[in-house]
Amino acid sequence: MKLEDVKKIVVIGSGAMGNGIAQICATAGMKAVMVDIKQEFVDKGMATVNKSLDVMVSKGKITAEKKAEVIGNLSTSLSNTGAVKDAQVVIEAVPVLCRDAFSGIQAAMK
Ligand SMILES: NC(=O)c1ccc[n+]([C@@H]2O[C@H](COP(=O)([O-])OP(=O)(O)OC[C@H]3O[C@@H](n4cnc5c(N)ncnc54)[C@H](O)[C@@H]3O)[C@@H](O)[C@H]2O)c1
Repeated sequence: MKLEDVKKIVVIGSGAMGNGIAQICATAGMKAVMVDIKQEFVDKGMATVNKSLDVMVSKGKITAEKKAEVIGNLSTSLSNTGAVKDAQVVIEAVPVLCRDAFSGIQAAMK
């Protein structure tokens, strides 16, 4: 698979690593879904991305239009297996002790 074939990625875990990875992929033009176990966690992940993009806009590194495009590429989910259905890439960003987060993912991607 080539990079340009990647239209949708899913990041399991919307913490420090997860929301950063999702932001970068969304900035590159991919649809990026952040998954976590509670709504408050995905909301926090989105808020962090929003704040980060605001800083970039205020420094003139990206335009407000680009910020809107990036936000438009991002979404959230509380279902690992539901989110991955039509994704080409799934990235795990959960603590080591939570690696059961990946169970059922491969089957759900098919
Ligand atoms: N933060 C860093 O600088 C850094 C650097 C290198 C590696 N890492 C590694 O990356 C991984 C993630 O680190 P982090 O800092 O983002 O952690 P974090 O605690 O900020 O975020 C982890 C998120 O994963 C979620 N999670 C847990 N179980 C889940 C499940 N079953 N399904 C979906 N979401 C689930 C948690 O609710 C939490 O929001 C860890 O293994 C860490 O060691 C982190």
